Amino acid sequence: MPKVVFIEHSDVVHSVEAETGRSLMQIAVDNLVPGIDGECGGACSCATCHVYVDPAWQSLLPARSSDETFMLEGAFEVNESSRLGCQLKMCEEWDGLVVRIPVSQG
Ligand code: FES
Repeated sequence: MPKVVFIEHSDVVHSVEAETGRSLMQIAVDNLVPGIDGECGGACSCATCHVYVDPAWQSLLPARSSDETFMLEGAFEVNESSRLGCQLKMCEEWDGLVVRIPVSQG
């Protein structure tokens, strides 16, 4: 099974197995990764799943949707690597994907 590496703002690392088809938000919640709450259940309406995707992986990700872009505009500490974890569905080619959790969600 592929893995995702979540890194807290304090540099605590969580390397977890990631079922394909599940979102990064669901995977983080399943594995009790602190800082990713997923309050809206993945409906793209809360931004509590905000993560920074490591630059080495960004070219493999789908583009942000207009809904994701809108929600990120209201989030804290957004930068060009910001994504909503609920909008990214795990696939085999993302094995080893590295994402960081913003300090505002710690
Ligand atoms: Fe609410 Fe991602 S879980 S926007």
